[in-house]
Amino acid sequence: MSVLPADPHRPVAHLRPPRNWINDPNGLAFHDGHYHVCFQYNPYGPEHAHMHWGHFRSPDLLAWEELPVALTPTPGGEDADGCFSGNAVSDGDRLVAFYSAFRTDRWAQPVTTAESRDNGVTWTPRGSLLIPDPPEGTTMYRDPYVWREAGRWRMLVGSALADGRAAALLYESADLERWEYRGPFLDRAPQPVAPGADTGLGWECPQYLHTDGRGALILSAWDPELGPRRTVVHSGREENGRFRAGAPALLDHGPDFYAPALLHAPDGRWLLWGWSWEARDPEWVREAGWAGLLTLPREVTLADDGSVRQRPAAELLALRGGRAVTAAGVTDGTAVLGTVSGSFDLTARLEPRAPGAAGGLRLVTSADGGEYLDLRLDPAAGELVVDRDHASLDAGAHGGSYRVPCPGASVELRLVVDRSVAEVYLPSGRTLTLRFYPTGGAPWRIEARGGGEGGLGYAVSAWDLRPYTVRSLAGAAPD
Ligand code: FRU
Repeated sequence: MSVLPADPHRPVAHLRPPRNWINDPNGLAFHDGHYHVCFQYNPYGPEHAHMHWGHFRSPDLLAWEELPVALTPTPGGEDADGCFSGNAVSDGDRLVAFYSAFRTDRWAQPVTTAESRDNGVTWTPRGSLLIPDPPEGTTMYRDPYVWREAGRWRMLVGSALADGRAAALLYESADLERWEYRGPFLDRAPQPVAPGADTGLGWECPQYLHTDGRGALILSAWDPELGPRRTVVHSGREENGRFRAGAPALLDHGPDFYAPALLHAPDGRWLLWGWSWEARDPEWVREAGWAGLLTLPREVTLADDGSVRQRPAAELLALRGGRAVTAAGVTDGTAVLGTVSGSFDLTARLEPRAPGAAGGLRLVTSADGGEYLDLRLDPAAGELVVDRDHASLDAGAHGGSYRVPCPGASVELRLVVDRSVAEVYLPSGRTLTLRFYPTGGAPWRIEARGGGEGGLGYAVSAWDLRPYTVRSLAGAAPD
């Protein structure tokens, strides 16, 4: 068993292998009584290169096993330079992975497959391409997403069109082998979704949540010059093989969330994991030896108004350990509510007592109070502000403040912090995910801070989080 040095930023309740680089969740499927969660993985270092598919599975979203690497690039083969993203479907006794075959000598990443007949422990790549040629007029092509609907298999592939529109291309098949191209399911010119963010020139990792004739297309917006941007969602309904969608919205309001993927569970729930990348300088990442994590599994629902709502999967309540904080009151200054460990799950109700009064919560991570993550209400804007400008004394950590709409006289929120990641969940189903890198060791302090006339009413509970159990069948034991 390898013992890794203690790393205060390594999460304990978010999936990732002990070392090296990860990005997108891939191959999400429920098969043989397990949730299978694969992910883009470079087994050789903490940078994006040599993409393999790493693999975890769990019967209950709490006890995880790290399985052997699922997909490995074949030297000289169609995926010689990387097994890029895709999903997987359970087809009776097979798990079939659909993924993007990356070679540096061609612009497209065409679709290929691999299958497992032993519940994901070993995989056999098909060797050849499943869909060798992208349709005419496309300038980007990758990330298949396959699902079963109305007696046939369907597939979306992320794309960009030569005229500047982004597109999700639709294919159909009776047998998972012969695929017919049906045209763009949705295509759009870039549209603004938030200050500084738009729906992109290309779409990566299309995901399709559908229920009762309605649907939501989740698309990771990509720009050829800037790279990954934000994840957007279009909700609407399908008409004759085309998706009729309303205005796009951001799926997550934080800066460090991208390429989420869906798993349609047998109980009907849609679960989603996203990739949360690092927000610190590359040199620091190299020293740490690891990069990226998967968000908590989230339950995703499509509300009647077309909004997509996310909340942590109900199972995660079982990770709540001892209650660390229970506090309620009113403050027009600073109220110290208690201390938490570096991984905790918090619920809060915050209520400014007069119009114009503000305030919020502060997570203080250094003894002198100089290092903190702030969650502040901006009642005039109807937004919650998450501010990491002072969240690390290390200059290598990225700063910035980020806003998520939360109109109304009072705010309820859930905040899950796991060492270097914070996920904020609002009752509206909106989320904000960001990374931060405290230099001060836990226990950390929770404060309520009231400003303005009347002060801030607060009711806060927090529980320390128990780590996931992770058993390794892969040879190396995760810490
Ligand atoms: C999204 C993405 C995918 C690609 C993969 C490569 O983050 O760029 O489009 O398949 O990552 O790692």
